[in-house]
Amino acid sequence: MPELLRGKKELGAVYTPKPIIDFMLSRLNISSTQPLAVLEPACADAPFLSAFQQKFGKRHALTGVEIDHEAKRKSGLKNFEFHNQDFLLWETECRYDVILGNPPYGIIGNESHYPISALKEVKSEYKARSSTWRGKYNIYGAFIEQSVKLLKPNGQLCFVVPATWLLLDDFILLRKFLSEHGELHVHYLGKAFAKVNVVAVVLYFVKNARRALRLYDGKTLCVKRTHYNGDLIAFEDDFTREFEKKNPVRIGDFFNIHFAARSPEVKKSAIVFSEKKNGRTPLLTGRNLKPNAIDYETNYTGLYVEHRRANELRAFYGFPHIVVGHTKGAKVVAAFDERCYAWREEFHLVPKCSVNEKSVVAYLNSALVQRYVATRYRDMIPHLTKTQLSRLPIPTDLK
Ligand SMILES: C[S@@+](CC[C@H](N)C(=O)[O-])C[C@H]1O[C@@H](n2cnc3c(N)ncnc32)[C@H](O)[C@@H]1O
Repeated sequence: MPELLRGKKELGAVYTPKPIIDFMLSRLNISSTQPLAVLEPACADAPFLSAFQQKFGKRHALTGVEIDHEAKRKSGLKNFEFHNQDFLLWETECRYDVILGNPPYGIIGNESHYPISALKEVKSEYKARSSTWRGKYNIYGAFIEQSVKLLKPNGQLCFVVPATWLLLDDFILLRKFLSEHGELHVHYLGKAFAKVNVVAVVLYFVKNARRALRLYDGKTLCVKRTHYNGDLIAFEDDFTREFEKKNPVRIGDFFNIHFAARSPEVKKSAIVFSEKKNGRTPLLTGRNLKPNAIDYETNYTGLYVEHRRANELRAFYGFPHIVVGHTKGAKVVAAFDERCYAWREEFHLVPKCSVNEKSVVAYLNSALVQRYVATRYRDMIPHLTKTQLSRLPIPTDLK
């Protein structure tokens, strides 16, 4: 495909490989002999509509919406209506039988921090129109919501999107919204885009009265729910089910889980300094945390804390407690901070009841826990979230 048609990075453009388009078309249930209304949002040169027409014939009415006026229309398409518009602000009375494509993805904001910079002026308008917007959100979430709203009853939506919405709390409202409007099938693809470090899934959704969920590894069915309520979506197998049954209590039942003090707060703090002096200890980060060990010596932050006042930054820096990695990939890494240092990263576990913290640390670093987390969440997000940690099964005898 010529470079021009690949679209602009600041608009979240990523070209979809043909085998993924073919797989997505194979998911669609196209039995009607009537012409269907088919939409490709963020279509660029409309690769999905072209493939749809090739596979299902020329009788269908095809519509593409694309914001980038330089993205070319595919000339060979029949029955094709092209709108050079922002899909999230596009007003239409039409409703569609099939909506498919590869929406842009990325958090909208300044180019120094966020991938989608071209749309930052309209972000507040997107937010106002989207009922699922939460936290920093991601533009693909708003595309999913808008597309579901444009489906006819029994209409089908098929998008390839990042996997993050399955797990992150920023997508709680989106998952709930999907669970309330139809039946959801998710196909995990892994890192399916060459040179793009994104774990992708195909979301296939039918707007109907069923509230079912199916999660597939590629084409293999792994999880089936007849009543889906919008909860996070993760893999399971005999091992994870047995592990949960054997350990019915969760980490969140034993501990309150806190984030470390964040950078802006640390910078403003009267007890944090850039010079080393007696009574000051390094402000620790994730790099200081190892399985069952803390490197108290290396200063990765370049900052020092007045040690006896560390509890002014966070009360829990003032007593020994468990620290669990947030920035360690999808692994569980835990250690017991018995020297009560201040941290700029990671999770800090404060017991709600009497519990053997040293045994909990050993358990969290164990091969069994690593296997559980790797099986449930794979590489779908690049870190461990508070929700994942809080739901981790834990043996009751560690109490
Ligand atoms: C991930 S690319 C996919 C392109 C094409 N569907 C494909 O698979 O090759 C996303 C496209 O979304 C377009 N885009 C970004 N924001 C948009 C918006 N708000 N409305 C419409 N199109 C948008 C970009 O210009 C880009 O062409």
